[in-house]
Order: sequence, then C-alpha cells, then structure tokens
Amino acid sequence: MSFSYKNQILQAESVAITDLMATYGSPLYVYSQTDIENNWREFDAAFGSHPHLVCYAVKANSNLAVLNTLAKIGAGFDIVSEGELERVLAAGGQANRCVFSGVAKTAREIKRALEVGVRCFNVESASELDRIESVAQSLNMQAPISIRINPNVDAKTHPYISTGLKENKFGVDIDDAINLYQQANNSKYLSVQGLDCHIGSQLTEVSPFLDALDKVLELVDQLNQQGISIAHLDLGGGVGIRYDDEQTIDIKAYVEAMITKVGNIEIILEPGRSIVGNAGVFITKVEFLKQNSEHSFAIIDGAMNDLLRPSFYNAYHQVLPVDENANGIQASWDLVGPICETGDFLAKGRELSLSQGDYLALMSAGAYGFTMSSNYNSRPRVAEVMVSGEQHHLVRERETIQDLFEKENIIND
Ligand code: LLP
Repeated sequence: MSFSYKNQILQAESVAITDLMATYGSPLYVYSQTDIENNWREFDAAFGSHPHLVCYAVKANSNLAVLNTLAKIGAGFDIVSEGELERVLAAGGQANRCVFSGVAKTAREIKRALEVGVRCFNVESASELDRIESVAQSLNMQAPISIRINPNVDAKTHPYISTGLKENKFGVDIDDAINLYQQANNSKYLSVQGLDCHIGSQLTEVSPFLDALDKVLELVDQLNQQGISIAHLDLGGGVGIRYDDEQTIDIKAYVEAMITKVGNIEIILEPGRSIVGNAGVFITKVEFLKQNSEHSFAIIDGAMNDLLRPSFYNAYHQVLPVDENANGIQASWDLVGPICETGDFLAKGRELSLSQGDYLALMSAGAYGFTMSSNYNSRPRVAEVMVSGEQHHLVRERETIQDLFEKENIIND
C-alpha cells in the first residue's frame, strides 16, 4: 500500500501529498502506479500456468496513463463503449485482448470493434445477438461471441451494484441461453467463443462467485452435449476492496477455487475496483468550518461532482488528514461540498481535528471516482496525477472554465 505517513505527512509512494498540492492545486486525484501494477499482477500470478486473461474493467478508471500502465504489463481490458475502446487503443492496449461488455452496443460500436479485432463480444440479449450478426454480415466477418448469462445468484452487495439477479437488466436467463448459443453456432457470421457472467461489484465473499460458477458449468455441460464447445469462461469482475473494515477476498484463494472447478478451460476475469480502488486518493481542502448546535460542517472544495460515490451509494471513504500534526477544532465533522444539494457530502460524522486550509485525503478513491465525475454546478473537473516512486506526473490537466462551454452555442437570430 503506497499511501502512508512519513514525518507525519501523508505520502503517495515517495512523494509528500503537500508537495503535490503545492504543484497541482486542490482538489486532486492522486494514483500510485506501483499499486496499480501490483494489484493487476496479483490476479495474473494467482493463475500460475492455467490459461487466463485478466481484463481490467476500464470503467473503474479510464485515464490513459492508468490504461497504459496496465497495457505495458500485459493486461487485457473489459470495455463497454466505443469511447473505452478508443481509450484502450490510444493508451497502447491491444484490441485482441479486449472483451466488449454492455447491454446496448450500437451498430457503430460493433462495427468499430469488429474492424479493430476485439477478442470477444459479451452478448446480453437475443436482439443484441441479431445486431452483432447483421453487422458482421455487412462486413463479411465472423464476430466472436460469448453469451452473458444471469445466474440468478445474490451477490450480497449494494442493490445498485448487484447485477446477477433476475430483477437486474443484465444478461440472459440460463434457460434462454441455449437457444441463443444454437443460433450463434448455426450462423456463418458468429463464432462461439465463451460464456460470460458478472454478478455484481464490491463482493466481500467468494461463495456467490462459486455459486454462479456452478451454474455456468452446468450450462457448459449442456452445451457440450449439443456439440457446442466453450473455449473460455469470462467470470466478470466484482472483487471487493477494503474501504472501512470490510473483510476482503483473498485473490489467490478465489482464483484457485475457480481453477479447481473449471478443468482446462481458459478463464477471463474483469476486475476493475480491485486494481485501482486502493491505488488512488482524492485530496480536498477545507474552505470553511461551520458549526451549529446540531452539526459540525467542514465545507471542502471537493464535491459530489468530483466523487459521487458517497452521495449516490452512501458509500464510505476513509478520511485522513494530509498533515497528521494538524491541530484544529476537534469535532465529529460532516464533510460537505460547495454544490447546492443536501446530498452533496463526501463523508459524515468523522472525528477529526480541523482548521481552515487543511488538506484531507479521501482514501480508496481510485475506482469509480474520476470516471463518475461531472461538471454539475459548472465545476471544472479536477486534475489527476500519477506517482511512481519519487516521480509525479500530471496525467490529466485540470479543466478550465473555458472547457466548460466550449462545445455550446448561442442561437443567433
Ligand atoms: N464487468 C462488468 C460487466 C461490469 O459491469 C463491471 C462493473 C465490472 C466488470 C467491474 O467490476 P468491479 O471489479 O469494479 O467490481 N460505480 C459503482 C460500481 C459499478 C460497477 C459496474 N460494473 C461503485 O462506485 O461502486
């Protein structure tokens, strides 16, 4: 873990966060390149000699420097849009190591993905299979496909990030999957490659993954009996990280449990959060302190538009002072942003000693932090910095006010 104190100042690898603030300003996302590499390698190494591909889920953090870091060490990528595909290519990733997920791929996205040669489409419905077939036909190509099945298992996570239940929009029922596989197998323009499944995100137990895998393997058997062979199993992402005091999944044990069940079939995984989540922090400054008889508010310069998870999922991010020596007003603080919404908070009820001007770190913000940010309240999106040892690099410039309305036009009468 690359975020720790030295001389009571929080560091990112070997760089003091205070130095980063002096150079780049606040608020700021800071990533540790070493942590990102180590996290991906932990998955990769857990497979040993078993055929596998660890496809980082780009949606978690799609900064080009993050993608490039992973491409250089051999990662594949899980993409869900043409935008993510182009990011991967721009960052030096290989199309033939990309799996294309998502419930609503457009004809244009499918065409582009076929042209550049993605490894596989994860198909989420009968109509999507038809669309992929017709685009492939128009290009006189064969589209590699997996069907994403919905195993109807409870991932035991937040309902907004649970995807493997019948009530969720994702995947197709196991019972319907056989028909789709037959259709694909009979098509000149489709090539059956694998079977796909993703049950949710921030899972803290292995058992739902294994329950889903059992259902997947039953289907593989049924398909085999019909002469349809499955070359890979894509078992999705979803491994949880520690935000607070959650128990987490031992990656080696999780991977080994899967390998034991699948025989020789290649396994693809799509981890996002577990690669970048703990490898990033969001730094914000205390602008004002405001206390009334009921509450102590620290008004910070970061807001829900920069880090949406607390407002959206009531998610917890640990808050650490950048300077451990800070000696201000001790209270149980709510950290609230400048946005005109009561839901604009990044943390609630945190025992901290604060003064105006202090810097605070929201930990574990590397996943679904910047990628879910917006310009709400016409706030420019913040800068992103990647640290490697003693080096630090600006990997995304802070947006300017000009950027906010550059693409807008006034109607001239
Ligand atoms: N594969 C598919 C098909 C997915 O839908 C997702 C995440 C992943 C892989 C990566 O899952 P991970 O390893 O990151 O858990 N914004 C939410 C998380 C949404 C997850 C959406 N799908 C959050 O901030 O918690």
